[in-house]
Amino acid sequence: MCAYTKKQTKTKTSRFGIPALSLAITLFGVTCNESTKSLPDETEIYKNPKYSVDERVNDLLSRMTLSEKIGQMIQIDRGFIEKESDIKDYFIGSILSGGGSSPSSNEPSAWADMVDNFQQQAVRTRLGIPLIYGIDAVHGHNNVHGAVIFPHNIGLGCTRNPELIQQAARVTAKEVAGTGIHWTFSPCIAVVRNERWGRTYEGFGETPELAGMMAEAAVRGYQGDDLSDNTSILACAKHFLGDGGTTGGHDQGNTEVDEATMRRLHLPGYISAVNAGTGSIMASYNSWNGEKMHGNQYWLTTVLKKELDFEGFLVSDWSGIDQLPGDFASDIETAVNAGIDMVMLPQRYKEFMLTTLDLVNQGKISIERIDDAVSRILRMKFALGIFESPFTDRALTGTIGCQEHRNVARECVRQSLVLLKNENSTLPIADSVTHIHVAGKNADNLGNQCGGWTISWQGGSGNITVGTTILEAIRHAGTEVEVTFSSDGLGARNADVAIAVIGETPYAEGSGDRSDLSLSAEDISTVINLRSFGIPTIIVLISGRPLILDNIMLYSDALIAAWLPGTEGQGVADVLFGDFAPTGKLSHTWPRSMSQIPINYGDIDYDPLFEYGFGLTFPKK
Ligand code: BGC
Ligand code: BGC
Repeated sequence: MCAYTKKQTKTKTSRFGIPALSLAITLFGVTCNESTKSLPDETEIYKNPKYSVDERVNDLLSRMTLSEKIGQMIQIDRGFIEKESDIKDYFIGSILSGGGSSPSSNEPSAWADMVDNFQQQAVRTRLGIPLIYGIDAVHGHNNVHGAVIFPHNIGLGCTRNPELIQQAARVTAKEVAGTGIHWTFSPCIAVVRNERWGRTYEGFGETPELAGMMAEAAVRGYQGDDLSDNTSILACAKHFLGDGGTTGGHDQGNTEVDEATMRRLHLPGYISAVNAGTGSIMASYNSWNGEKMHGNQYWLTTVLKKELDFEGFLVSDWSGIDQLPGDFASDIETAVNAGIDMVMLPQRYKEFMLTTLDLVNQGKISIERIDDAVSRILRMKFALGIFESPFTDRALTGTIGCQEHRNVARECVRQSLVLLKNENSTLPIADSVTHIHVAGKNADNLGNQCGGWTISWQGGSGNITVGTTILEAIRHAGTEVEVTFSSDGLGARNADVAIAVIGETPYAEGSGDRSDLSLSAEDISTVINLRSFGIPTIIVLISGRPLILDNIMLYSDALIAAWLPGTEGQGVADVLFGDFAPTGKLSHTWPRSMSQIPINYGDIDYDPLFEYGFGLTFPKK
């Protein structure tokens, strides 16, 4: 694979022995000795797309100063840029928007303007190396107001339909490209073994098979047939390795399993992602038997880069290197030597530049390691065609949130629903029904049905973006039907059927860790209130994971697990009214009680409420 890394011209580095002094010279590097080796007269190979990616990488690398190389390894969040000209002066290679890190006007064109503006700085550097901009587009382009929001991965896992997931990722890629962004930190292919974890919904399910099948589909969808296409973006499989296997389901916790288990459960998704050509992979916050993955050379380099032949680049997670033992210098040394190629700092870029120069000069990080890291990053920038088209293709900006894209998400919603119970053929709602009463805190709440990682990092309740709530969708479904609503269910008198939309409210990462996954008292009383009228009751559960259903099972006639469906609430109505048959199959085992968790497919003494793969159906009308 990386044969070219061995043939590069060695760059002289000794002059940077006294960082503080040399930094000024280096940062404005055009004047320092190292770079007065001005560009040769012969054709600049790296600027010429007629050459192969490897030829261009080699050529460019041979022209770069050490500071220019280190700059490529830096990723900062847009919110931490002190001065825009720092992008140029520190040779910044990458910028990201963390959750909710949006321009002040959160509209597609403002995003494109912002990214293009940053890019202007980068292309003004001596060598004109463009930025690669990254974002968590994990269920659609979810930070951007008006973008279509897809179901979170836990629901997509229930579709068992990789073609559809590929199509969904294709749509997301177009919307992301429409804001000038080249890279999504997705798919999350965590194999989630304990539903206490607040990131359960980010993974496709509890088995390595599901992670592998969907990883491949998502990577192909994001990256398209050709990475250089203007609608293709770089994928990032995350979080490597064992994020979903921590003891107690603690976020950023410790995965205490042997190597064989790690390979059997957590590695297969990455084998698929690498085979599908994922251009990047993100390291995980978790530890493996007490050692942080960010410093684990065995998994990051020996297994991932050598054994699996991963040719893309490895990015660290947000501030992830700071969790390594030791000071900042030792964090960088450990992480880069373990195999991290780009560091999601996301803030300390000036310090990173100085410290890394120093580490290389002291021989603590070899120039070969730096060259390998930078080559991997540059290779993806060339493959993506960013050198040729650094700025937003504005023709795509207008497609963000368009009907065609929403239709794909609606199809994902339909196929992600899992029918868990259906007594007396309560579903589909009969044509003879003239009055439906809808209740529950999640019935008319777009933010709640989208979950975390929507507009902001943690997500939020209410009208946070453009879409259709489940109540609105039910109202629009049948013109002949009277639809009434009361949040607590007390207004249900005289209705023919009741629908309670209950469950979780938004959270992300560690703040979603729970020791108790019971339904709230509010939700239980909503259902009991409906039942008090003696009306057939359908429950639509909005949640990022299986919840403990207890008595709710008894109080309901039908129950649908709808996960976190996103903006297209009509997909739920489509199934409730029987326009589409439910086909979803559980991506997680459904436990009877908290004491059963962790419970996973293949366990001995497996006695769940609903098995992995369970899902009822009925014929469409
Ligand atoms: C998360 C990643 C995410 C990154 C950037 C981290 O906290 O663990 O999944 O990609 O932030 O927002
Ligand atoms: C998240 C970012 C988020 C930030 C907010 C990080 O842990 O990953 O995406 O923007 O926290 O403080």
